Amino acid sequence: MSEKTIESILNEKRQFPPSETFSQQANITPTELEALKKHAEEDYQGYWAKLAQENLYWFKDFSTVLDDTNAPNYQWFTDGEINVSYNCLDLNAQKFPNKKAIIFEAENGETKTITYQELLDEVSKLSNGLLDLGVQALDRVVIYMPMVPEAVIAMQACARIGAVHSVVFGGFSSNALKDRIEDAAAKVVITADGAFRGGKIIPLKDSTDKALEGWETPVKNVVVFQRTGEPINMSNQRDIWWHDLTKDQDRESKALALNSEHPLFILYTSGSTGKPKGIQHSSGGYLLHAKTTFQWIFDIKDSDVFWCTADVGWITGHSYVAYGPLAAGATILIYEGAPTYPHPGRFWEICERHKVTLFYTAPTAIRALMKFGDNIPNQYDLSTLRLLGTVGEPINPEAWMWYHSVIGKEKCPIVDTWWQTETGAAMISPLPGVISTKPGSCTQSLPGIMMDIVDDRGNTVDQPNKGGYLVVTKPWPSMLRTIWGDNDRYIETYWAKFNNRLYVAGDSANQDEDEFFWIMGRIDDVLNVSGHRLGTMEVESALVSHPNVVEAAVVGKPHDIKGEGIFAFVVTKGERPTEDKEPKATKELRNWVAEQVGPIAKPDDIRYLENLPKTRSGKIMRRLLRAIARGEEITQDISTLEDEGIIKQLQGTD
Ligand code: PRX
Repeated sequence: MSEKTIESILNEKRQFPPSETFSQQANITPTELEALKKHAEEDYQGYWAKLAQENLYWFKDFSTVLDDTNAPNYQWFTDGEINVSYNCLDLNAQKFPNKKAIIFEAENGETKTITYQELLDEVSKLSNGLLDLGVQALDRVVIYMPMVPEAVIAMQACARIGAVHSVVFGGFSSNALKDRIEDAAAKVVITADGAFRGGKIIPLKDSTDKALEGWETPVKNVVVFQRTGEPINMSNQRDIWWHDLTKDQDRESKALALNSEHPLFILYTSGSTGKPKGIQHSSGGYLLHAKTTFQWIFDIKDSDVFWCTADVGWITGHSYVAYGPLAAGATILIYEGAPTYPHPGRFWEICERHKVTLFYTAPTAIRALMKFGDNIPNQYDLSTLRLLGTVGEPINPEAWMWYHSVIGKEKCPIVDTWWQTETGAAMISPLPGVISTKPGSCTQSLPGIMMDIVDDRGNTVDQPNKGGYLVVTKPWPSMLRTIWGDNDRYIETYWAKFNNRLYVAGDSANQDEDEFFWIMGRIDDVLNVSGHRLGTMEVESALVSHPNVVEAAVVGKPHDIKGEGIFAFVVTKGERPTEDKEPKATKELRNWVAEQVGPIAKPDDIRYLENLPKTRSGKIMRRLLRAIARGEEITQDISTLEDEGIIKQLQGTD
């Protein structure tokens, strides 16, 4: 980024204060928020120590809060001893053994519930099974599972015995799985015979076999959960059915007392260069922030049914499915299948059937569901919903307003939570009983989380609405500890830019007059058009606000005169226009963007698609779009594309 900071020209002025009714019953009141913030500012370590003592059960108390001896490799609660699974299961099974921990809905509509006691029993049996296989503390276990309760059971079983899990999203190919198994040097893989998704079976065991073929793998055993009943190969020496491994196991198992810094998991995430990075998280610090943010942001009450739609293959599925809510003793919903299978109202049908009260999803899902029109959700009783959340990308005000009015019936606060795989849990988010929301803003950082926006030299950008680098100015308990096997890369990626002083999130953002944060996108997605810096999201937001546009992705391409030009990929309602046949549509959209943002933001090119190319997790494949916009050859892995036919449309040849 140059001296010139990013210009924010997004002009969203609407504000939605929490309703009286919501505020009165909220877990965090304005006075409590003030007190928390004050405590964190005056006595940072004391603040975190108090939260850690009040919210977690320690086998052995810690005497050190923050150890910065090897900064930026910070450590938290270092000499404390804890077990994450004990905190999630044993404590809650003692308090309310018969409370529902998990409500599960399969893609075929079958449902089952699992109580806290039952969950503890199943986790204990599997951890005893893993011990029988010789798994020890610090051994790595790769989990490659469908979105079924057993995925959570597998994670919790590892946590119980101190094995370090690395969940690999079930939509990843065998190649991606192989890379992760290799990098983590996993001793065991836990998978299933297959996964049901979108009416099809995804052959997870076949992919696992392929991933383990042709090289000397560190994997001793593959544990296979039977989900589909389809025939699969079982290798005598290596493979064992989950039901065989667990059937004679004791329901009691010891939750090991582990050092607070003991790695709980590694989760691979893409960087802008190189191979995926293994983001390594801790036990005590991670659980603390996952649990407290869950209680504060989602306002959890005993009677709530919380549904986070994220797969456990992503950080959101770790912190707000497998760990945060279970540590808080909540009832969670897990849904196995695709959001629109077998009909576009599936999500809303599930909300109605299970009386979901708290619903957390990604903007991309909201936009996709919005595309089907209001009368789909209007067919369902969504009256139990009392809070909505989003995560993963900036939400455009258009989608926010739809979520607010059509799904939330104007009564549910929306918590737009900003965070990353690396941060472990939410960092910026409204506290729903206190903070007024603004469509498109994730509002303010949470108490104890110190964030700032800085310029190229690391100085605070004081002026409202001027963009810069989003940074965290103090270490926080749930921060990543390192990149697995590559600490230099950890320092280089997140700390080196400002002399190990600030954590660099890799996002650009600005703060408005109320000190609300507006995320503008990844730094590598920032455009510089005729010397003006523009966040791609701002142009996208403008495009999407056009009545005919459903979704848009914008990338930069070299431009002779302006330096960088804007290339927009657009999904419209109704029939797909083409550049040749519909010059009028293109002209109209360009003028529209000029009106919404300013003439500098006018896209130079607009290409129309039926769908944006996305990974199975719903992230737009921006690197692919950039290559196409520049007319380069496609070299990246497109095997995760939901629809490969999209390539021709992308290249403008269809
Ligand atoms: O660019 C930000 C965006 O997602 C990135 C982190 O992606 P990942 O590690 O996959 O984690 C996603 C789930 C926590 C961030 O650097 N991002 C995440 N949440 C938001 C967001 N952008 C805008 N608003 C958000 N609420």
